[in-house]
Amino acid sequence: MAKYEFPKDFWWGSAASGPQSEGRVAGDGKADNIWDAWYQTAPEKFFNQVGPEKTSMVYQKYQEDISLMKQTGHNSYRTSIQWSRLIPNPFTGEVNPEAVTFYNHLIDDLIAAGIEPFINLYHFDMPMVLQENGGWLNREVVDLYTDYAEKCFKLFGDRVKKWFTQNEPIVPVEGGYLYGWHLPDERNLKHGVQVAYHEALASAKAVEKYHALNLGGTIGIILNLMPTYPKDDTNPADVKAAKFVDGFFNRSFLDPAIKGTFPSDIVDWLGEYDLMPTYHQSDLAIIKENTIDLLGVNYYQPRRAAAKEIQVEPEGENGWMPEDFYTVYDMPGKKLNPYRGWEIYEKGIYDALINIKDNYGNINCFISENGMGVEDEARFINADGQINDDYRIEFIQDHLKWVHKALEEGSNVHGYHMWTCMDNWSWLNAYKNRYGFISVDLDNEAKRTIKKSGYWFKEMTEQNGFSD
Ligand code: NOJ
Repeated sequence: MAKYEFPKDFWWGSAASGPQSEGRVAGDGKADNIWDAWYQTAPEKFFNQVGPEKTSMVYQKYQEDISLMKQTGHNSYRTSIQWSRLIPNPFTGEVNPEAVTFYNHLIDDLIAAGIEPFINLYHFDMPMVLQENGGWLNREVVDLYTDYAEKCFKLFGDRVKKWFTQNEPIVPVEGGYLYGWHLPDERNLKHGVQVAYHEALASAKAVEKYHALNLGGTIGIILNLMPTYPKDDTNPADVKAAKFVDGFFNRSFLDPAIKGTFPSDIVDWLGEYDLMPTYHQSDLAIIKENTIDLLGVNYYQPRRAAAKEIQVEPEGENGWMPEDFYTVYDMPGKKLNPYRGWEIYEKGIYDALINIKDNYGNINCFISENGMGVEDEARFINADGQINDDYRIEFIQDHLKWVHKALEEGSNVHGYHMWTCMDNWSWLNAYKNRYGFISVDLDNEAKRTIKKSGYWFKEMTEQNGFSD
């Protein structure tokens, strides 16, 4: 029997986001973000036509939720502030007092319960008035975001000691400018690159503000790292394709955040294909000097890449796409999540952590998301009304074993947050895939019931590990 024991004070908990869990109540002063607005104009895009207003009601039930977090063994919890709630009109910058009251209560009550709040500033939720003005494509948004970040630090930074500038900044690029899962629903790689650049600059500027305020905490970013494996690691063309994929999707975000520079192979590629973003020379020093203190690693699945013969002209009508430079390799026999279809490759979490240890100065980090989405999870409800999610327990354990191995080999990994606490609304997929430790009955005022995995997590965190 093997024993997996984690260090004292390891951060155990879960992650969520404001736009996916809060909802709003009439008159609470929140303005629309891109999701509220998109649902109003194109509800058919959303699974079962369920929009962001049908949430898990954390806004109304946060006190009950904090008690449920205790019952499921949390010592920390990540969520995000909604920009469109705190500052309904970013052009005037006026703060919504009801939002301040809500976030103050949430933060204070978490701390009183012994649960450390990890607060992120941006989780795919561009205020609609800014999107109408170009969103991240417009450089003006960088400074509006920095003002918003500074206001958050001043309002809540006396108590919040773990801040994050953004969650998964590649996703607004992929969703908004390549594949059609976010507004503005364009297909334009050059715009996507500009957006990624503005996100990196905005993140560095927020880090600069935070450090200047000397509030005694740490600030970081949350990246979804997808270790990338070549189809055949003895074939140089496959290895080159995998390096490109890693560069575009991972290093383009890791490098500026941690090293303050952009990966030179990707910069060369951008130059070659006329994809370079517009920038000011003085930005580069800002990015260089304001790197993060703490990295959040979201890990779900790897990418697998094979070589592709590069054409002279883009293949599709939308200009160059990343897939013009590699082939997605569908590895035969890969292990799949039977209830969602994503690949399960537990060792990927270890590879991501060891990459950070070896190539990114072993910066302090933690697993900021990992989890298993399950379609139609209600089918696993037992006679007592509880979801019997043994598959999720196994999934977490299997990943934690690899996190443990990375720790043994010297990784500075400090915690593990599961996605998510309460089942929540997930963008265009709405409630199609459930991820939580706690189920939410949408037809019954979002009634909460702890799943089997929630009780298991409590027991595991009390022992600070597990045996198998
Ligand atoms: C990552 C994102 O941060 C979150 O918003 C999303 O719901 C989960 N992955 C699950 O897909």
